[in-house]
Amino acid sequence: MAILQILQYPDPRLHTIAKKVLQVNDITRKLIKNMAQTMYAAPGVGLAATQVDVHEQIIVMDVSELHNELRVFINPEILHSSGEQEGEEGCLSVPGIYENVRRADKVTVQALNQTGESFTLEAEGFLAVCIQHEMDHLKGKVFVEYLSQLKQTRLRAKLKKRQREAM
Ligand code: NI
Repeated sequence: MAILQILQYPDPRLHTIAKKVLQVNDITRKLIKNMAQTMYAAPGVGLAATQVDVHEQIIVMDVSELHNELRVFINPEILHSSGEQEGEEGCLSVPGIYENVRRADKVTVQALNQTGESFTLEAEGFLAVCIQHEMDHLKGKVFVEYLSQLKQTRLRAKLKKRQREAM
């Protein structure tokens, strides 16, 4: 297993649109293991392949208290969404930044698991937020893009400055 490097916003590669996984195989499973290890080490509750510069539709997630309920979503699709919730979100690609985002309260998602079997999950609350947040990554969208243009400009300047200082 290996810890992968997580792309940091505003890295343009975060805007790449991920392709569907055509075949779930050992290479996919190895990537999932490394993504999970990277997520747990960060630590974070979700990670999309986009964030480790692999542009395939793969997400790992664990919102459990004990960090022992890994969820894997390959080629996820939202079948149904309803309601509305707003809450503070953060992202491993935008460290230290937390902002309110409005999301659907409930989503029904269909995806493949790591053995390539299809499953459907009805999620609400925080889990539903995570699914929407990570699926956005696969579409090349980072959560800060929901903020006003002014806030985004300020944020990019702040993060670029921080990245320069860290070099
Ligand atoms: Ni994120």
